[in-house]
Amino acid sequence: MGVLRFLNAGESHGPALTAIIEGIPSNLEISSDYINRELARRQQGYGRGGRMKIEKDRVEILSGVRFGKTLGSPITLMVRNRDWENWTDIMAVEGQPTDKREITNPRPGHADLPGGIKYGFSDLRNVLERASARETTTRVAVGAVCKKLLEDIGIKIGSYVVSIGELSVRELIQDIPLEERFKRAEESEVRIPVPEEDEKFKKLIDLAKEEGESLGGVFEVFATGVPVGLGSYVQWDRRLDGRIAQAFMSIQAIKGVEIGDGFELSRRFGSQAHDEIFWDRERGFYHRTNRAGGLEGGMTNGEPVIVRAGMKPIPTLMRKKSLHSVNIKTKEPFDAAKERSDVTAVPAAAVVGEAMLAIVLAEAVLEKFGNDNWEDIKKRVEEYRQYTLRY
Ligand SMILES: Cc1cc2nc3c(=O)[nH]c(=O)nc-3n(C[C@H](O)[C@H](O)[C@H](O)COP(=O)(O)O)c2cc1C
Repeated sequence: MGVLRFLNAGESHGPALTAIIEGIPSNLEISSDYINRELARRQQGYGRGGRMKIEKDRVEILSGVRFGKTLGSPITLMVRNRDWENWTDIMAVEGQPTDKREITNPRPGHADLPGGIKYGFSDLRNVLERASARETTTRVAVGAVCKKLLEDIGIKIGSYVVSIGELSVRELIQDIPLEERFKRAEESEVRIPVPEEDEKFKKLIDLAKEEGESLGGVFEVFATGVPVGLGSYVQWDRRLDGRIAQAFMSIQAIKGVEIGDGFELSRRFGSQAHDEIFWDRERGFYHRTNRAGGLEGGMTNGEPVIVRAGMKPIPTLMRKKSLHSVNIKTKEPFDAAKERSDVTAVPAAAVVGEAMLAIVLAEAVLEKFGNDNWEDIKKRVEEYRQYTLRY
């Protein structure tokens, strides 16, 4: 059992999405406003569809917080689905199913078909209601609580988009510091850190939309101010790089995860893949490069943690293109390209990535420094930081 755990629940068109977090220490200051800011960030991005206009997510904190501070007891977070009023009969808890909005046409690239077969459903809505990335709303809410915790001890998390489809700014951002990349990404509708390239990216998204196409891309999430020694090498499931990879791969549509220079390292000579070690009295041990992305031997090494994730194009296509599939009842073929969907959600996925990194790092912090009273834990973190400088 991990020291920090959460479960989330809720269907995409159900009454609400909820999450219960256990393991957040007492006396952490947190507010609904802080969480709502993160929820709003997830809903932004050029190329999102109609649903994001309907939902303006707001959190309700139902337990675990009193007078602005955590109690150490489980925290329940709830986000109501505003769309629910249009779905009360279709998503009713009791009564008989109607065939209204029944889905028997499985969409390629979604959980529809394997989920329907696995759970024995004749209405694939039972699958997609939960498989949908709407679920990531509560991950972002949980991530916000974790971010607040990390922020208190000087760990900052950010993200930016590196590429969408074939368009990439990877070469252009090499010399821009991470926090500056993040600052610029926050100003960009496509979350890229190079404002001059914004229009190009938006045009590509417009073009994809006209063509009834969708787009994937690559984003990076980083954490700065991370102390040395979170995670461990002593057992496979305590290695922090592995835990981060799992957390990112669990995000809908993420198909690849790299840490630091990742796959690029595999193409270099050994001498070009290292981060050499330096020392001075003020900084203690440090590196001048960060090819390892802040992780060595399953532990943080004091440099920023850098995670890169590749997202496939949104599987739902809009009419125009044809996409072969087969009806589960009639076994007749049908065209699965349908009307309404996001063209791309890479900017939003980056925000979800921030939440996942925050959750994994917060757990690693609590494992190392204790998990009861946040006031005590903060002191321990500070003492440890002093010790690492003297080591
Ligand atoms: C933030 C976010 C938004 C998404 N929006 C959509 C969408 O509007 N339409 C869609 O078909 N897929 C969307 N997806 C992707 C699907 O949820 C995902 O591809 C699908 O559940 C199948 O899972 P898999 O790709 O991980 O195998 C989105 C994913 C994320 C992370």
